[in-house]
Amino acid sequence: MKRILITGASRGIGRAIAEKLAAPDVTLLLHGRDTVALGETCKSVQSHCAGVIKLIHDLATQKGVSNLISQVGGDPLDVLINNAGIAVVKPFREVTLDEWNQTLGVNVTAPFLLMQRFVGQMPPGSNIVNILSIAAKTGFANWSAYCMSKFALEGFSQSVRDELRVHRIRVLNIYPAATNTEIWDDVTGDWPREKMIAAEEVASAVAYALSRPANVAVENVTLSNAAGNL
Ligand SMILES: NC(=O)c1ccc[n+]([C@@H]2O[C@H](COP(=O)([O-])OP(=O)(O)OC[C@H]3O[C@@H](n4cnc5c(N)ncnc54)[C@H](OP(=O)(O)O)[C@@H]3O)[C@@H](O)[C@H]2O)c1
Repeated sequence: MKRILITGASRGIGRAIAEKLAAPDVTLLLHGRDTVALGETCKSVQSHCAGVIKLIHDLATQKGVSNLISQVGGDPLDVLINNAGIAVVKPFREVTLDEWNQTLGVNVTAPFLLMQRFVGQMPPGSNIVNILSIAAKTGFANWSAYCMSKFALEGFSQSVRDELRVHRIRVLNIYPAATNTEIWDDVTGDWPREKMIAAEEVASAVAYALSRPANVAVENVTLSNAAGNL
């Protein structure tokens, strides 16, 4: 039986990953904050997997992260998927310290603490998946806080990847272009949602990377929009 933990599984890319990875030999540990939305994800996967555990915690706070860690417990973890994320999009002069800290907390500190805490219970052949972004490689006007967080996670995870090779734990980084999820609901501007890639495509990339033999690491997958950045 495999245990797979997915943060931010209540909607968007996290939900699509949960639906893609649900299998009879898998227990899904699904995290979110919105109990109703997380309940919907659980409902859609429960008949396809061995079990579902619901984890409702705020990852912007260290207390929320510690509570999640306690609830997951010490049993072996085969896959940790750091997916939860927020996007504050505005000119950098308008970003408040609170928004900066929230972005760092959810997008960087939580993945750091989860990787650090769980790696000791991840057997050889297990995987850490980080949902980064094309914004981990390129800066975009008005996306400074978001790009800061994704660049930070990129540097951190590259280093961790190298440290974990000796333990045969793979660190798989996924870099999606604009993907049509609710994260865009709060982003000002006229974004062509219908031209964005689908969350299911990101989930398929994750499933592909995880499906490779243990001696092969599909370490970096970039999902660009064939039409260019939107
Ligand atoms: N959509 C894109 O264009 C795109 C492109 C590249 C990378 N990404 C990355 O993909 C990941 C998922 O994004 P998405 O597009 O699926 O966004 P989404 O639909 O807005 O979903 C975000 C998820 O993160 C969770 N989350 C947000 N703040 C949280 C907090 N304080 N504590 C705990 N959980 C929190 C949400 O939980 P609740 O709703 O339950 O609060 C939700 O499950 C993010 O890391 C994002 O940066 C997205």
